[in-house]
Amino acid sequence: MPRMTVNERPVEFALDPATPLLWALRDAANLTGTKYGCGVGDCGACMVMVDGAALRSCLVTIGEAEGRNVVTIEGLSRDRSHPVQQALVAEQAIQCGFCTPGIAIAAAALLARNFAPGEEEIKAAIPNLCRCGVYPRLVRAIERAGRVARREELIAAAPAPGIGVEDAARAVPALGRTESRR
Ligand code: FES
Ligand code: FES
Repeated sequence: MPRMTVNERPVEFALDPATPLLWALRDAANLTGTKYGCGVGDCGACMVMVDGAALRSCLVTIGEAEGRNVVTIEGLSRDRSHPVQQALVAEQAIQCGFCTPGIAIAAAALLARNFAPGEEEIKAAIPNLCRCGVYPRLVRAIERAGRVARREELIAAAPAPGIGVEDAARAVPALGRTESRR
């Protein structure tokens, strides 16, 4: 039963170690912000941070994630105050939003290692597919997130979610398969 830290909580998944991390997060932990797009590593909708690197969670098993630190979109910030979240909203770089969690994770991982990425660096670091075609706004948003991260600009926090993570988790019986110890 693989153990890892998910969004700063120790978690033990009572699942086969070969289970994709994406399935464990979505179906057992009710962290449905991480999206299931292609399931084969092409789209990036499932990206989560694993020890600070943006990885496609459909390609990582929970056995491989054992002992590692996983951050999903729900854990990026509790109040949507991460510079990437603020800038994506401010630049209206979201249409249907399906790709957005994966992009936000990839962008946050980029900014964590480079506070001032240029356009080419952003394009190289964000391989995510967006069927709505937000790419031009995306570059602007991530450049702007860099300015916020460098404290050169302030953006108001994005609107708060209407439901808390704990409230959402309580409503899903599948969470019973996940043991969380604070
Ligand atoms: S669902 Fe993982 S890369 Fe598409
Ligand atoms: S905003 Fe719709 S897929 Fe990217």
